[in-house]
Amino acid sequence: MGGEIPMDKTAASSSEEQIEEFWDLRPKRLSEYIGQGRVIESLRIAIEAALERGDPLDHVLLHSPPGLGKTTLAHIIAREMGVNLVTSSGPAIEKGGDLISILTHLERGDVLFIDEIHRLSKVVEEFLYPAMEDFSIDFVFDKGAHARSHRYRLEPFTLVGATTRSGLLSAPLRERFGLFRRLDFYTTEELSCVVSRSAQILKVSIDDEGRDEIAKRSRGTPRIANRLLKRTRDYAQVRGDGVIHRMIACEAMELEGVDEMGLTDLDRGFLEAIIHFYKGGPAGIEALAATLQEESDTLADVVEPYLLKIGFVTRSPNGRKATDRAYEYFGVQKQPGRKKQLSFSKFKKNEARGR
Ligand code: ADE
Repeated sequence: MGGEIPMDKTAASSSEEQIEEFWDLRPKRLSEYIGQGRVIESLRIAIEAALERGDPLDHVLLHSPPGLGKTTLAHIIAREMGVNLVTSSGPAIEKGGDLISILTHLERGDVLFIDEIHRLSKVVEEFLYPAMEDFSIDFVFDKGAHARSHRYRLEPFTLVGATTRSGLLSAPLRERFGLFRRLDFYTTEELSCVVSRSAQILKVSIDDEGRDEIAKRSRGTPRIANRLLKRTRDYAQVRGDGVIHRMIACEAMELEGVDEMGLTDLDRGFLEAIIHFYKGGPAGIEALAATLQEESDTLADVVEPYLLKIGFVTRSPNGRKATDRAYEYFGVQKQPGRKKQLSFSKFKKNEARGR
C-alpha cells in the first residue's frame, strides 16, 4: 500500500529518470492541483466516498490533448487512495498474456494506469471487459472440442485509462468506466499559478510580468509552461542576471520559436499549408501530413486541438479550414472563392522566402 511509484511488471514500466522527472514539478495531491475545477471536485468526492466505504475507486477514463495532466491525475488518485500505481500503455500491452500478467499481480485496490488506451488491440480489450466488470478473467485451455475455460478471480482494482482520442474507444470499453472526464486547456491565469508554483520549486526568481508572459505562450498546457520556464531560466542565467522578467522571457521564447500566441513552427506550418497550399481549405489531415511530412497523429493530437480552441481552424467532414482569425494573424488577405491549388514546389519556394 502507498507505493505511488510506477512498478516494473512485464508490459508495465518504470525508470528512475521517468520517476524523477515526474515528481519534479507536478502536484502530488489533489489539494496542490491547479485548474480543472469540476474534474478535481468530482474525483475528490468519488475518492472520499470510496475511502469511507473501504471500496476501490470506480474505473476512471481521462480524455484530453497531451500535457494537460492525465498521467499526473493517475498518480494523484493512487496516492489519495493510498494504493500502488502500476503504469502501462495501449501499445505496450501486445498480447492477452501481457495484460493477464499485469492484472494477476495487482493487489486489492491498486490503480492500473493505461495510457493511450485507445491503442489497445481488440483481443486485449476483450480480456479487459470481465476484468473491469467482475474482477475476473477467463483462461481457455486446449482448443476445439476439448476447450475448457477456467475463471480466475482478480483482486478488485481501479483502471485509470487515458486517451487523446476518446472517439476511437469502442463503446463497450467506454461504458465500463464509472467516471469519464475531459480535461480542458488551462486559462492563462491558471497557467500563471502553475508557473509561480514551479518557479518556487526550482528556486528561480521571476517577476509577475515574466510569469504571465510564459503563461500566455504555453498553449493552455502546463507541460509546455514548465518546459518554457526551464528554458527561460537557462536564458536568464546565461544572458541576464538570473531573474526572469518580461523581456528575458520574450527573448528566450523567441529563441525557442514560440511566438506571442504560443504558436510554434509546426503550428504555423500547419496553418500556412491550409492558407497557401490548400487556399484556405478544406484540407484533409492525411493530405496535410503529407504536405508537412509529419505524422497525421501528431497533427490531430498535438497541433489541431489548440488551433481549434483558439478559433484558427474549423473542422468539417471535408477537412480543415483556416478562419478569418488565422488570416489576420498572418496578415494575409483572404482570396475570394477557391482558386487552383498551388503546386507543392511553389508552396515550398514561397515558404522558404517567408511568404
Ligand atoms: N504542474 C503541472 N500541472 C500542474 C497543475 N495542474 N497544478 C499544479 N502544478 C502543476
